[in-house]
Parts: sequence; structure tokens; C-alpha cells
Amino acid sequence: MVRVGFFQFRPVFGKVQYNLNKVVKALKNVSADIIVLPELPFTGYYFKDREELKLLAEEINASSTVQALIKICRECDFYLVTGFAEKSGNKYFNSALLIGPEGVIHTYRKLHLFNEEKNWFDPGDIPLQISEIRGVKVGMMICFDWIFPEVFRALSIMGADLICHPSNLVLSYCQQTMISRCLENSVFAVTANRFGADKRPQGEIIFTGKSQIVAPKGELICKAPSKREVLYLRDINIDLAKDKMISPLNDIIKDRRQEFYDILCRRSD
Ligand code: ACM
Repeated sequence: MVRVGFFQFRPVFGKVQYNLNKVVKALKNVSADIIVLPELPFTGYYFKDREELKLLAEEINASSTVQALIKICRECDFYLVTGFAEKSGNKYFNSALLIGPEGVIHTYRKLHLFNEEKNWFDPGDIPLQISEIRGVKVGMMICFDWIFPEVFRALSIMGADLICHPSNLVLSYCQQTMISRCLENSVFAVTANRFGADKRPQGEIIFTGKSQIVAPKGELICKAPSKREVLYLRDINIDLAKDKMISPLNDIIKDRRQEFYDILCRRSD
């Protein structure tokens, strides 16, 4: 059994230290293997423009936020998957970091930017990757990536048992869709969403909460309320994700007839 979960909360835009303190306090003395935090949990989401993002984004190797997260991973002996506004040279990415007692293990940079994110961030440029943590093959994707089934499928074909999904969801369809994604790939998923709103001079964006953990047969293991701060942890049997048989004669990965849908891998522009 491995203990996985999420911390759903309401970040305050631009208050990086406040948001970090909130996470550190919530996770202190928690016993878990892997905990997922929302997308952009320290900066907040609704940037006015790229210039504002530049003021708040951090280089991973020079980030006091990342150092504080490594420290809590060491103290509590768990791993975190967290959203992160990443500066890398003159590029800015909406990233997810897999962090553990040994430091930053992997960076995922959001491949599919949602709406105005295209004005602030550079699109992800790192190939999808699986990292093994305590016998669990972990893949990462961020929020709007959910609407591209290719991401979840690719991670599954690469061997993911658990997909960690930091989110700042604004549309209402994701949570139900992730149930199908887990079923059609026989994989666990933790969607860690935020709640509340980013109320900014340029407008307001409201986030939907309802973070959740879904099991490989599409079972909803737990679901958070839409407007409450919660830390949910569950013990899961990760071996369930290794079983790809949906009937005695159907392996959902091996039975794919790729020769009939190779168009999926061709560019459409
Ligand atoms: C989103 O991708 N944050 C909607």
C-alpha cells in the first residue's frame, strides 16, 4: 500500500510566502508517500501580463520556495508534486515539480496552455517522463492537459501507475472526465485543484475545488467539497494499476490497433 493524497486550498494571488506557510503548516507531521498540490499554488494564477509573471516566477535552483519544500519532504519523509511558476533563462513555464527528501527529481512543463496563459507562459518543452517513487511509477500533467487524452495515454503507455495532476480548474468537465481517463488506461490519478477566486484589476477567475482521487477501474476514491480547505490522504494498492485486463481476453494497452489510428500522431496544422 502507498499513501497518496492532495491538499486543496485557496492561494492568495502574489503572496508567495503566505501561501508557502499555509502549505508547510498543513503538511507538518503528515504521514504520506506522495502528496499533490494545486497548479501555481504559491504565486496564484491570474497574472495581469507576462511582466507580472516575471516578478513572481523563480528559477528552480535559486528558489527559496523549493528549498522550503525539500525541507518539509526531508522532515516528513514524503514526496510532493506541486505546481510552480518557473523561470528558466528568459523563458517562463507553468511547471509541476516532483520533489522529495533528495531534492527536485523531475520538472514537467505544461504542454497545453489554457486561454490567457498563452500570453504569460512559454509552452512546455520537456518530453513526458515517468519517475519511480517507492515502487510507484509517477507521471505528471497540469490542469488543462486533461482535455488532450493523448497526454494521459502517453503517460500510461510509458508505464505510469499514478498520474499527479496539479490544477486550477475553471471549467466543470474535468473531474468526470478523469474517471474515464483512469478507466480507459487502468491508472490512478490525483487531481489537486484549488478553490476560491483570483480577483484582479483585469477581472476575476473562479476555481472549482472538488479535488479527487480516482482508481484504475474508474472508482472515485474521494472527492473534496468545492469551497473548503482539505487534506485528503488514502492508502491505495498500486498493483491494481499494473493490471490492464478489462476482460479475460482484453488488455487495454496491448489490444490497441495502432495501424488504424496512426493519424493521431501526425500534425494537424
Ligand atoms: C487551467 O488549465 N488552469 C484551466
